[in-house]
Parts: sequence; structure tokens; C-alpha cells
Amino acid sequence: MTKIIVTGAAGFIGSHIAEALLQQDKEVIGIDEFNDYYDPTLKRKNIAILKAYSNFTLVEGDIQLLDWQTLLQDVEVVYHQAAQAGVRASWGSGFRAYTERNINATQILLEAAKDAKNLQRLVFASTSSVYGDAETLPTHEGIPPRPVSPYGITKLAAERLCGLYHKNFGVPFVSLRYFTVYGPRQRPDMAFHKFFKAVLQDEAIPIYGDGQQTRDFTFVSDAVAANLAAATAPDAVGEIFNIGGGSRVVLTEVLETMAEIVGKPIKTNHIEKAMGDARHTAADVSKARKILQYQPAVSLKEGLTQEWHWIKSLYS
Ligand SMILES: NC(=O)c1ccc[n+]([C@@H]2O[C@H](COP(=O)([O-])OP(=O)(O)OC[C@H]3O[C@@H](n4cnc5c(N)ncnc54)[C@H](O)[C@@H]3O)[C@@H](O)[C@H]2O)c1
Repeated sequence: MTKIIVTGAAGFIGSHIAEALLQQDKEVIGIDEFNDYYDPTLKRKNIAILKAYSNFTLVEGDIQLLDWQTLLQDVEVVYHQAAQAGVRASWGSGFRAYTERNINATQILLEAAKDAKNLQRLVFASTSSVYGDAETLPTHEGIPPRPVSPYGITKLAAERLCGLYHKNFGVPFVSLRYFTVYGPRQRPDMAFHKFFKAVLQDEAIPIYGDGQQTRDFTFVSDAVAANLAAATAPDAVGEIFNIGGGSRVVLTEVLETMAEIVGKPIKTNHIEKAMGDARHTAADVSKARKILQYQPAVSLKEGLTQEWHWIKSLYS
């Protein structure tokens, strides 16, 4: 039977992709090293959900140290989600984790992928951070990437490596540039997770800068749908797609929606703007709509409500 690999399967987005595939009765191998960028207990919880399926196998370890030739033998699709995420931690001494986990790990995987006979697709998790402070909003894939964070630089390098291996060895990659993904299991260093946790603990929400920054927020099930489509759409190979939520929202509007959901006013605490954060992001998703039939389906209010329920069950 053919198999599917999800790297970063214990993480936020990877665990959702793996779960969706398991529900379709696919044979899934999840790979994760359970590093401590954030509390690995959360990653163990995600994996426990996947382990409940008999068609799931966990391979625990660093991508850079695995026997990929053997692993890829009967594998048709790899969803490469493993990475060192997060913009702020990518400055300073933390940078090595970014080069290792984003660039080196991807290169190891691509080297093996070029010789993998059964591999039909390698879907790479890229990011809107490659654009930096794009002058064109919404931003389309033809805009030259200009990252404003070391994180964005390493993800762009990895995406470009995928392009090189496609051109030279025919590795069938598809790159999805996610725009701020949220929902249940969201990483604890991400804004909505921090916000809801603060509300639950009756603390003020930390806001970087003036709160007027805008983001294109993508609910995780929409990101999952984009991945599944990227693995099958005939014209997707070798292409890069923006994956956004369909609308651009000001952060202060998000806080108003959150207040409605939690049923009480939200206390905020303004702190200095973080270096490396783009001021605005907005995805032009027309290419994904055309080739992947991508149609974001979950509204911000609906998605935030689901994340709030999850945060409450996690911390109380
Ligand atoms: N969450 C977002 O909003 C967002 C936005 C843009 C892009 N992305 C990208 O999507 C992907 C998933 O992000 P996430 O938010 O789910 O992050 P996450 O940190 O929750 O998941 C990543 C997982 O990869 C694992 N990992 C990292 N390096 C590894 C290695 N060398 N070997 C084995 N496992 C390793 C980690 O232990 C972690 O569980 C990443 O590639 C990230 O860059 C995420």
C-alpha cells in the first residue's frame, strides 16, 4: 500500500494534515523530533490523537539523521511541515536552529526525494514572511520576495532549494506560502493563542506596536484543504501558491471579535513593535483558487470561536 509522510506531524499544522489523511484511511508516517522550541507536552498531545489511528506510524527523530532512502521507498506524497517557525526568535543566537531545521533539513529531504521512485509530490510549507513588507497588497506570487526577518530568509532559501531540485532532478514540489494560520493546536508563541490564554488568566494582552497592523488570517482546516489539493492537482507541480484566509483584518478588529466571543472586554498592554514583523500582509489567492480550487471556507469569527474552545480545554 502506498504511504504518505508528514514531517512536523506533532506540530500545529502537521498534526491537522496527518489527521485529515488518517480520516481518509491513508497510511501515514508522521515524523517529528519533538524539539523544545515550545512545550513538547503540547506536541505529545497532538501525536496522541494521531496514534489512536491504526494506520498511523510515528518516526521520532531529526530529519537530518533519518534513513530517507528506506523511508521514502513506498511513499507517494511528502507534506514537509517541519521547520523552525517564529519570526522573533530568529534573531541573534537562535539563528542556528533556523538554518539547521529550515535549510539543512530540507536539503537532506530533497537529496533523498530526487531518487525516490514512487514520489508523486513534495508539498513544502512556505510562508508569507518571504514577502517582508511587500509594497503590493494583496500580494501575488510574482512579487519579488524581500524577507524582513532571518526566519523569512531561511524559509525562502528552502523554497528556492525545492525549485532547484525540481529544475535539475524533477523533484515534484509544490510550495504553499501560508499567511498566519490559526485554530485549535496553534503554537503557544502565536498571537491568538497568547491572547486567549491571557484572557483566560485575566491578564492583559500584549500588543506589538499600535495595533493597526493588518494580517490575512487562515483557519487551519483551509490550510489543510490547500495541502490536500496541492498533492493531487495536475498543474500544481513546480508552482508556488499563496494560501490566505480571504480577507485582511486590522488587529484591533480581531480584539473586538475576541471580546464578543469571550463575552467580556479585553485588556491590552502595548509593547514595542517587534523587529522582523511585517506591518501588513494580505494574500492574493487567485492562483490557488484557479489551480488548486482553493476556497477559504472558515470565517474569522467561526475560527476564533473554535480556537477559544480549544484554549479553554487546554488550560482549565
Ligand atoms: N503557523 C503559521 O501561521 C505558519 C505560517 C507560515 C508558515 N508556516 C510553516 O508551516 C509549518 C508548520 O508550522 P507550525 O506552526 O505547525 O509549527 P510547529 O512548530 O507547531 O510544527 C513544526 C514541527 O516540526 C518539528 N521539527 C522541526 N525541525 C525538525 C527536524 N529537523 N526534524 C524533525 N522534526 C522537526 C517540531 O518539533 C514541530 O513539532 C512550518 O514549516 C512553518 O514554517 C506556519
